[in-house]
Amino acid sequence: MKEQLNSLRSSTIDLLNQITDIKVLVDSRSRILGRKGDLTAILRGLKDLPIDERSTFGQLANQIKAELEAEFDLKETRLREELEHSQIMRESFDVTLPGRRFPLGRSHILNRVTQELVDVFAGLGFQLAEGPEVEIDYYNFEALNMPKDHPARDMQDTFYFSDNLLLRTHTSPVQIRTMEKCRPPVRIVCPGKVYRRDADVTHSPMFMQIEGLWVDKDVSFADLKGILYAFTREYFGEKLGLRFRPSFFPFTEPSAEVDIQCVMCGGSGCRTCSFTGWLEILGAGMIDPTLYGFVNYDSEIQSGFAFGLGIERVAMLKYGIPDIRLFYENDVRFLNQF
Ligand code: PHE
Repeated sequence: MKEQLNSLRSSTIDLLNQITDIKVLVDSRSRILGRKGDLTAILRGLKDLPIDERSTFGQLANQIKAELEAEFDLKETRLREELEHSQIMRESFDVTLPGRRFPLGRSHILNRVTQELVDVFAGLGFQLAEGPEVEIDYYNFEALNMPKDHPARDMQDTFYFSDNLLLRTHTSPVQIRTMEKCRPPVRIVCPGKVYRRDADVTHSPMFMQIEGLWVDKDVSFADLKGILYAFTREYFGEKLGLRFRPSFFPFTEPSAEVDIQCVMCGGSGCRTCSFTGWLEILGAGMIDPTLYGFVNYDSEIQSGFAFGLGIERVAMLKYGIPDIRLFYENDVRFLNQF
């Protein structure tokens, strides 16, 4: 029995040296020292021994049991410590590593330019107005003096949902919507997206305009020119010339298309302005009195002007962008430059 006990002791110690897993340790402990374990099995032989030997081996067994219990305890403490240490290592981080960058987003260049334009016109006394992009025929055409079958409708190739419902082709419907709601004087700007079936280097099926409208008593073409010159100076920061070319819009009379002296070459002629020195940026004119009839304004008393400015055109000029499609491609290499 002495040999059995000693060999159990040494095999257990060997085993303990090899164990690296806490679960294996716990299992081995109950297999060796547990109530139905190896030690108990050996001690079952005690009853077959002479009485005086029983107590000797009993004592030896207890001593070995206590020793092995202590070894198991020690091993368990060690393994738990190791486990904890490796968890800390896993969860901790290297404070000497460089920090991680969180890239900041930014407004799209067109939103930035829109905001800049609104700011300039706000400085000139214009309030912000808005209108829907899905518009009805009445506001987009009819009340702007373009009855059904009016040839001027052909100038704006329109996306229709139905006979009556369409994507607005310009921001001018907001003129009517604003005058319907507000008594004069009104002085508003309305930026927003507009849609036409059109696509090339300078045209996109979706683009942006900013509409201006000023109606009061005695507003004249001179006021229109004054505002547009003030805007040009303020926004492009230079004394660039403007050129008013007679034109036609059903909702303004007289009408003009307005060119700005080329920002790129200062008017001497370059590729951007097709060597003319001028770039078309807006349509404008005095409100046609017919419109006042639609909104219950007195055309004998009120007069006013409106203009519609292409926001992409302005952004292309201000930031030297050669192709309108760049705005909508969502390429961060382009967007990050602004
Ligand atoms: N709505 C016109 C267009 O999109 C521009 C414009 C606006 C012209 C206001 C005159 C007055 O072509």
